[in-house]
Amino acid sequence: MIESVLFKQMPLVLPNGIFEGDLLIRDGKIVAIGPSLSVHAERVIHEPGLTVCPGFIDAHVHFREPGPTHKETIQTGSQAAAAGGITTFFEMPNTNPMTVDQTTLDQKKQIAADTSLVNYAFFIGATRQNLHMLDTITGIPGIKLFAGSSTGDLLLSEPEQWETLFSRTHHRISVHSEDESMIRAKHANRTGHETAAEHPHMRPSEAAIRCTEALSQLAIRHQKHLHICHLTTAEECTYLQQLNSPYVTCEVTPQHLFCNADDYAEWGTYLQINPPIRAARHQAALWSALLSGTIPMIASDHAPHQRDEKDHPYGQAPSGMPIVQLTVPLLLNAMHEGRFELDDVIRWCAQNPSDIYGIANKGRLAVGYDADITLVDLKRTQTVQSKHLLSKSNWSVFEGKKLTGWPIMTIVNGQLVYEDGGCYPNPHSAQPVVFHAVESIG
Ligand code: DOR
Ligand code: ZN
Ligand code: ZN
Repeated sequence: MIESVLFKQMPLVLPNGIFEGDLLIRDGKIVAIGPSLSVHAERVIHEPGLTVCPGFIDAHVHFREPGPTHKETIQTGSQAAAAGGITTFFEMPNTNPMTVDQTTLDQKKQIAADTSLVNYAFFIGATRQNLHMLDTITGIPGIKLFAGSSTGDLLLSEPEQWETLFSRTHHRISVHSEDESMIRAKHANRTGHETAAEHPHMRPSEAAIRCTEALSQLAIRHQKHLHICHLTTAEECTYLQQLNSPYVTCEVTPQHLFCNADDYAEWGTYLQINPPIRAARHQAALWSALLSGTIPMIASDHAPHQRDEKDHPYGQAPSGMPIVQLTVPLLLNAMHEGRFELDDVIRWCAQNPSDIYGIANKGRLAVGYDADITLVDLKRTQTVQSKHLLSKSNWSVFEGKKLTGWPIMTIVNGQLVYEDGGCYPNPHSAQPVVFHAVESIG
């Protein structure tokens, strides 16, 4: 265990901008920041070519453990996260068994305590059976509501059930927002000859919009915090911009930002995810909403499936793609095109996830905060290659893309967990995320 690290004369991305100076971490916390600190540290890092960022937070991943661990485990998922500069993840409840009570939640927390390289928290899934007891659960980012069905059996699709959920809980509710009846109607009319390119029509934009509007109204009526996961449509962006409610927040994934329906021709079922990657007009609207602040945060929806599973024909191939390792490089690369700055990336992937989910002491480089730190090389150019991907599902629709801007070193609670290509074996660095009590919004 290293007790203290001093970053010496390096660019630090502080909440009010980039500042060239020193940052000291001791016993897992940031203890001092200044132009030049005269202190002793066990390890001194002076790499002026690298930029010191707050560790990135991915508030939406699927790591498959317990359950189909041939796709991913908490350990391998956390390694891929660490290599992608992510120091904290929130994992979804559609595992096997599903995470729907204290026992299944504790089981995941124990696996993470034993094997995760980075900080962790787990959502609890809402089911017909557990609505009465969700508020007895603590230490969670929120409740995951599958309002439309996706991978696994978690589903709560009836408005009366939503009403019960919203009236019974004080937790944040994060939703997979697609109208189940509209998806079923499309499914009933399928010919069986569809290809992946039809996926956006099988799960149409109207299904997402209808569900997002209904749930947003419910959140406002009940004065509860609703977070819409993986936004995909131009109409939802317009709706949320006009709604402008403190009760409703949302996220977008890198794959919905960097891919569109034209990519089905090359990637077929590998591009198939729920809600679908849609036409270019939706992609453009997601970018505008992100840049204007209507979408305040990015989360990966890392949903690993093996290649042979994705090789099945459309209709049998599972939905979802691995991506947790590439969110930060994709954004850093896009930053070089000049549409946004490093500060924006940090707001979308560290500060805002922390603020929206009420995480204590993460998301910023500030004295007293946890020493979760990612060093990035903004100039390094590297091609995405499967052999560098640490997920068990080590393929990517971004394979072969040349990206400039990569995480080089990842530090979790003051411990080095990843350095230029490799993870440290079990550094016992990870901690469960601590959340502020849910406050009333107003
Ligand atoms: O494409 C998806 N895959 N969407 C989801 O909602 C679930 C995820 C998975 O777990 O595979
Ligand atoms: Zn989802
Ligand atoms: Zn998901």
